[in-house]
Amino acid sequence: MRKNIVAGNWKMNTTVPEGVQLAQEVNDAVAAAGTLKCDVVIGVPFTHLTAVRAAIDIDKVGLAAENCANHTSGAYTGEVSAAMVASTGANYVILGHSERRGYYNETIELLKEKVDLALTAGLKVIFCCGESLEERKAGTHFDVIKNEIVGSLFHLDAEAFANVVIAYEPIWAIGTGETATAEQAQEIHAFIRGLLVEKYGNTVADDTTILYGGSCKPSNAAELFAKPDIDGGLIGGASLKADSFMGIVTAF
Ligand code: PGA
Repeated sequence: MRKNIVAGNWKMNTTVPEGVQLAQEVNDAVAAAGTLKCDVVIGVPFTHLTAVRAAIDIDKVGLAAENCANHTSGAYTGEVSAAMVASTGANYVILGHSERRGYYNETIELLKEKVDLALTAGLKVIFCCGESLEERKAGTHFDVIKNEIVGSLFHLDAEAFANVVIAYEPIWAIGTGETATAEQAQEIHAFIRGLLVEKYGNTVADDTTILYGGSCKPSNAAELFAKPDIDGGLIGGASLKADSFMGIVTAF
């Protein structure tokens, strides 16, 4: 059976000392909570990975980078490779976030390269997809999501795909306070799982974790997570405080 996961995406927030403190608070809260109904992951800036890794119990709290390079090594000033991320002890990487696609021109083809390098480095990939408001209004949201998933992931064989988590994040819901309704999210999650059934068959589709992201908070998490195809959340703003993040973790 697939895992439920609640993953934080800190984005470009916190200094290293602040981040270590937040990670410790999350780690302590997870330890104190005992048996949880989901895995917990925190996604942190590159600069924080090593220090945060030292501050957490990786068996209780997974650790993600928020990006990695589309090259293995060499003359790419300022870039951080998937192998470098893995060498910090991180076990996940978030790829294809709409902020990376939008502000840094990350294309479907580029993300395919990053996915391959991340998996080769032994990282699990949290792969984000989702439509803009214009695309939803135009009724093209299903096509947009399908293209993103097919174009960057469907070259993988089933064995490699087992290390992929999908996060559906409608761009119009990210950081806006406007959450997709549980019904809207479920509709897309079921659509995504249907794509996986067609490509990889029922077992792989059933085993794949599909997260919802976009203004998810303690007050709406339980309703979202109650839907059959919503297996947790990718949490931005509400992951920056341990208590609100834990309010989502314990919503299952
Ligand atoms: P948000 O961000 O929870 O602040 O809307 C979600 C995300 O971008 O992953």
